[in-house]
Amino acid sequence: MSDGDGAPGRLSGRLVALGVTGSIAAYKAVELLRLLTAEGADVVVLLSASASRFVGALSFAALSRHPVETDVLELQADGRIGHIVVADSADAIVVAPATAHWLGAMANGLAADVVTAACLATSSPVVVAPAMDGDMWTHPATQANVARLRDAFAYAIVEPDTGSLASGQSGVGRLAELPRIVDAVVAAVAGRPIRQPDAGARPPLAIAPVREEDLGGRHVVVTAGGTREPIDPVRFIGNRSSGRMGVALAEAALGRGASVTLIAADVSVALPVDRARVVRVETADELRSALLETLFGSPPAPPVARFDALVMAAAVADFTPRAPAAGKLSRGEGLSLELRPTPDILAEVSRIARGAGGPGSPGDGVIPRPVLVGFAAETGSLDRAPDKLRRKGLDLLVANDVTEAGSGFGSDTNRVVILDAEGGREALPLLSKRAAADRILDRVAAALDARDAAGQTAAMQERNA
Ligand SMILES: Cc1cc2nc3c(=O)[nH]c(=O)nc-3n(C[C@H](O)[C@H](O)[C@H](O)COP(=O)(O)O)c2cc1C
Repeated sequence: MSDGDGAPGRLSGRLVALGVTGSIAAYKAVELLRLLTAEGADVVVLLSASASRFVGALSFAALSRHPVETDVLELQADGRIGHIVVADSADAIVVAPATAHWLGAMANGLAADVVTAACLATSSPVVVAPAMDGDMWTHPATQANVARLRDAFAYAIVEPDTGSLASGQSGVGRLAELPRIVDAVVAAVAGRPIRQPDAGARPPLAIAPVREEDLGGRHVVVTAGGTREPIDPVRFIGNRSSGRMGVALAEAALGRGASVTLIAADVSVALPVDRARVVRVETADELRSALLETLFGSPPAPPVARFDALVMAAAVADFTPRAPAAGKLSRGEGLSLELRPTPDILAEVSRIARGAGGPGSPGDGVIPRPVLVGFAAETGSLDRAPDKLRRKGLDLLVANDVTEAGSGFGSDTNRVVILDAEGGREALPLLSKRAAADRILDRVAAALDARDAAGQTAAMQERNA
């Protein structure tokens, strides 16, 4: 082992691609990754779409320090094709756990997922550790597929163990003990030269790119978390927002030199209280008051822009009880709640900032013109998002489908689409929320730079007129 005793690991200098498919045993792949790393291997992970519903890409990315390949149609940040880079640079590919479905796809050369595509494209040894229900394993189809992989493709098969299975039954089909899989990888590469010692030709590192302080001198206001609307002193109507995306945005903006105000409703993550101005709120009404004061100052003074960009990531309730009870309600005969709609805070901010009416709004809006970013958490189609962007007068709208695996509330990752006022649409791959935050702030920083450049040009033209 390479850790602890100082001796080089048996996979020292090797790049091992770990393909994970959608078995209940997928969680064991996290430990397998650790064992391979302990043997000195540089590990890059490929996840089938089903696998990423069992284990999130973030754990693998954090432990492997490489972005995780999840989508066969997604290019790497530098434009390279991820599964081909892996196929061309890995010393071995180990598929563990391998599902019955994956064995069938592989036996037939069906390259619809990153794991199969990489195996098809590689000339390196492939090690396969199947895991499944006992009857699936003994089915002639599975056995024929395994035989083809072993005999026709010369893949090393690490036969599953006998023991208790996820189905509650006992039988053959359990993923082999992990040291046995590591030994099979070591045996597969034995005697072969290291395939690609040049790190530049291997998959990229997942280290967040060092960004210059491109938000230095800017005041970025971020809202985060879910509001709670009181029913009585002990009960409330809330939502599933964890505040992760908003806090990631605040952290990312701080990292890029911005001064940050974070208006936080209910969140389940730590807040950067030592580096940002943090304002805690509970209800939609409280969030509105705190936000308007932060952005424009207190009435009756005319609104002035006290911010450069607002990123409205909070999940603000659309409805609130019309008359919360002063005392705790008893169970009684049941309860009917009358709800009233809450104000559309972002639309109101936009009206004030853009000068299209609203309380105390000057004719032309505030100067300099702030950048307004909204979020749209949708379930299913994102079709309504462009209309929301237009209606609210936003510069950018970040839309995501919160029902998608690995996206939305409570998850550490997010797959978002950034829409802009010019009709542009940028679909980002599944990213950690921090990486998604940086991609959103790339757009904010660019919009602010464009705003300033336009302001300077206008001032010069005025001087020269
Ligand atoms: C809870 C659960 C556990 C599963 N475990 C396995 C398993 O251990 N092995 C297997 O072959 N399929 C298993 N499946 C079925 C696969 O997830 C399914 O066939 C899927 O399409 C595999 O996709 P993939 O091979 O592209 O990853 C499981 C399904 C569920 C819902």
